[in-house]
Amino acid sequence: MTFGNPHLHHRRTESTNDHARKLAEAGAASGTVVTADEQTAGRGRHGRRWSAPPGAALLYSAILRPLDERHALLPLAVPLAACEAIEALAPLECQVKWPNDVWISERKVGGVLIEARPPDWAVIGVGMNLTIGEDEFPSDLRWPATSVGHDATPEAARAALDDALDRWVEAPGDQVLEEFARRDALRGREVSWGDAAPTAAGSGTASGVDERGYLLVETPDGPVALGAGEVSLHLG
Ligand code: BTN
Repeated sequence: MTFGNPHLHHRRTESTNDHARKLAEAGAASGTVVTADEQTAGRGRHGRRWSAPPGAALLYSAILRPLDERHALLPLAVPLAACEAIEALAPLECQVKWPNDVWISERKVGGVLIEARPPDWAVIGVGMNLTIGEDEFPSDLRWPATSVGHDATPEAARAALDDALDRWVEAPGDQVLEEFARRDALRGREVSWGDAAPTAAGSGTASGVDERGYLLVETPDGPVALGAGEVSLHLG
C-alpha cells in the first residue's frame, strides 16, 4: 500500500475526514491523502471537537480500500504508525493509549478517527499536534496535551506518516499486537468505564489487548474484554 498518491492539500476545510469520505464515496483510489492547514469543523472520537491553530498540527485523512481481513487490527495499527512517524521527526518516545490516542510522557500528542463503510473503504483520520504552544490548547481538554515540537513541519509529518502507514496498515496481526504491547501506555493502570451495552460499567487493571484488539481488564469479578466502539475509558 502506498499513501500520499494523490495528495490534496487545503488551506482551510471543514474536516479532512469529511472531504476524504466524500472522495471515497465518489470512488477515489486507495492511498489518496487529504490534508489541511486549518479545519473549521475538525472532529474527534465520541462526537468531540478537534481544533488546532492554523499550520501548527498535521491534519490528515487517508483513504484505504477495499477492506478485508488484513485490516482487522487497523485501529491499533494506525496509532503505531503515528508513533513511528513522530519518532522519525524528533528524538522522542511515543506510547499508545488504547484504543488509539498517541502519547508522549503521558500527554496526548495525537488522535485517530477511523470512519469506515466496510467492505468498501475506510477513512483514516489522524490529528498530530506539532507546534501548538502549551497555552494554545483548549482549556476543556479531558487529558493534558502536548506537541511534537523540534520545529516539526506539517509537510515533514505528512511524509513520515505516509511512510509509516505504508508499513503498518497491512502488517501481519502478530506484528501489530507485539508492537502494541511494547507501546501500551495502559498496561498495569487502573481504568474505569461507564455503562455502554453490551458492556456494564466497571473498573479494574488494564492487562493488554487480545487478538481482536479488545482491551483486557482484570476486575474483582474476573477478566473483561472491552471493544473500542463500546466504551469511553477513564484513568485512575
Ligand atoms: C481523537 O483523538 O478524538 C481523534 C482526533 C482525530 C482528529 C483528526 S484531524 C484530521 C481528521 N479530520 C477530522 O475532522 N478529524 C481527524
